[in-house]
Amino acid sequence: MPPTTANTSGTTPAFSPADVTVLFVLGGPGAGKGTQCSRLVRDYHFKHLSAGDLLRAEQDRPGSQYGQLIRDCIKNGEIVPMEVTVALLENAMRETIDTTGTKKFLIDGFPRKMDQAVKFEEVVCPARLVLFYDCPEAEMERRLLERGKTSGRADDNAESIRKRFRTFVETSMPVVDAYDREGRVVKVDATATPDQVYAATKEKLKQALGDKF
Ligand code: C5P
Ligand code: MG
Repeated sequence: MPPTTANTSGTTPAFSPADVTVLFVLGGPGAGKGTQCSRLVRDYHFKHLSAGDLLRAEQDRPGSQYGQLIRDCIKNGEIVPMEVTVALLENAMRETIDTTGTKKFLIDGFPRKMDQAVKFEEVVCPARLVLFYDCPEAEMERRLLERGKTSGRADDNAESIRKRFRTFVETSMPVVDAYDREGRVVKVDATATPDQVYAATKEKLKQALGDKF
């Protein structure tokens, strides 16, 4: 009998999900993904990789051929071509595993578009689940404008925020919905305070992954 596999391309992912744990962390801009990831890192020893942070670092890296492309996409709230982001994530995972031995990853702000999801699971590593932070737009906008006072981010302004929300609804929510249809989404209401959201996060992850996730 031929081996059965979800991977129809014949590509073997770089990392086996039996060895490496990947949780995708999604939610609209300002939903609190980074805040919650910091707490999970503190208590459960995940490595936190933010796709947005990796893109901003690549944008600023002297000699990067993608600097201007990334800068334009971020300013306009558009999705950077997936090859760039998938490669940055794979490199960061490999470096983390090689230098620290850590094999548990929170991949924050990714996948934001269906092609990123498919490519990553095909060539890098199938994800265990999607942790989705659900937050009303008005609350996210309030948080982003507040953060914009000190973040120095080129996209924490009213115009970029509007574009980021549109991309989230049109391009990123379909990714969450697709994973949800597969029963792979853990949804957390992100409206409350960070402490309250974190308590709910731990509870739901325990339900999905067991006590010592
Ligand atoms: O997650 P964060 O808000 O830091 O992302 C900032 C920007 O980086 C996004 O608005 C988008 O332009 C880009 N990005 C992307 N693909 C991702 C994550 C971020 O293109 N998976
Ligand atoms: Mg973030």
